[in-house]
Amino acid sequence: MRKITVIGTGYVGLVSGACFSEIGNRVICCDVDENKINRLRRGEIPIYEPGLQELVERNAKAERLYFTTEVGEAIESSDIIYIAVGTPMSETGEADMRYVMSAAKKIGEHLNGHKIIVNKSTVPVGTGELVREVIQANKKVPWTRFDVVSNPEFLREGSAIADCMSMDRAIIGSDNQEAADVIAELHAPFKTRIFFTDLESAEMIKYAANTFLATKISFINAIANICERVGANVADVSAGMGLDSRIGSKFLQAGIGYGGSCFPKDTYALAHISDKAGYDFELLKSVIRTNQKQRYIVMDKLREAVGGLAGKQVAVLGLAFKPETDDMRYAPSLTIVPELLKQGASVRAYDPIASDSAKRELPSGVHYYERLEQAVNGADVCVILTEWQSVVSMDLALIRSLMKHPVIIDGRNCFDLQVMERFGFEYHSVGRPPVNMAERDRQSVNL
Ligand code: UDX
Repeated sequence: MRKITVIGTGYVGLVSGACFSEIGNRVICCDVDENKINRLRRGEIPIYEPGLQELVERNAKAERLYFTTEVGEAIESSDIIYIAVGTPMSETGEADMRYVMSAAKKIGEHLNGHKIIVNKSTVPVGTGELVREVIQANKKVPWTRFDVVSNPEFLREGSAIADCMSMDRAIIGSDNQEAADVIAELHAPFKTRIFFTDLESAEMIKYAANTFLATKISFINAIANICERVGANVADVSAGMGLDSRIGSKFLQAGIGYGGSCFPKDTYALAHISDKAGYDFELLKSVIRTNQKQRYIVMDKLREAVGGLAGKQVAVLGLAFKPETDDMRYAPSLTIVPELLKQGASVRAYDPIASDSAKRELPSGVHYYERLEQAVNGADVCVILTEWQSVVSMDLALIRSLMKHPVIIDGRNCFDLQVMERFGFEYHSVGRPPVNMAERDRQSVNL
């Protein structure tokens, strides 16, 4: 049993803290946000993540998991301190490091014995050293020792608990093998592969992994755009490519592009890091541009399919950046919905979980519906932005009968083309031939 403090109860901090307590450690999760801590103490989870509520409840009840705003006390009572604070995108696109630095200062001020400081936040290369300097500069007791380790996070929202409890690998970066071994031992119950490296390389692995996955997505989206022009089907192209074990089939699903808390932020941040380091990472900049454009490609399809959006009733299915989360960060809906309103459409939105968070992010004037059928009722067109299970399994016969015009623009390639043809939908997806296309569209693409 280890005594761990996790600073920051955001997505990563909360999930990691809960999982570390689940494997038998005593964990204190800290945050400066008093309201959030009070809610967590009452068992209210500020984010939607399947299984997290039960996990937190179980471990809080077993007196292994605690929540506090008293960061100093928590640091003093622990021997491993995880920094899991946010590193949001600043206006320049760089990671905003102010929360990491204030956590390091606090750790320095409360260093009352040897501790291992582990950084889980996604930080620019060199931050580990900076954290070390800040702690050193703020130490009250000169002879206290500490070690710094980088242990980046690879959780996916929506499956974060499973990703943590049976993680692919744990990356442990440090210049002190003893400290690295303690963190490796902490991971033993997760039965995962451990990869030891230095601090800087561990920090780089996180950026390199996320931007590589983002590159795969932009790559397949670019291929999808060509497929549309040459009459190929990207689903088959992707499946065929994925059979090559050197390529792999994952993250080759074409669609409206990536969103979320990591890919947009980390791709921008690495582009900045490389600029600063004197290398023009053109490939990555193009990945970012391709992703931004992809949303407008879907938007254009939507407008063309209904011959202009002014006065049209548009059902928007899915608002979150991906299924099984209420996270709206960089969600395609944040681009599409305001654009629909701007072009004079009436927006009828459905999301099984994210409507409340969407209401805070989207402009007023959007009509929200609890049931998918209500949103599509009387709609001129329907656009799919998130592949929720309730969307993928919707009753197509019923939907067709409810819509004023059975036109679906699918930004997530949820449906089989033959099925859509059979149900009589005019169906436009990404990188696949259109189905039951109106005469107007057929002429515009020169078939
Ligand atoms: C990602 C990484 O997977 C995770 O390792 C990291 O720690 C945080 O960022 P997450 O953002 O939760 O996790 O979601 P993920 O499932 O990776 O999807 C990211 C985005 O890419 C979503 O918008 C998703 O819709 C999109 N995506 C994913 C595609 O468009 N196509 C794909 O083939 C896969």
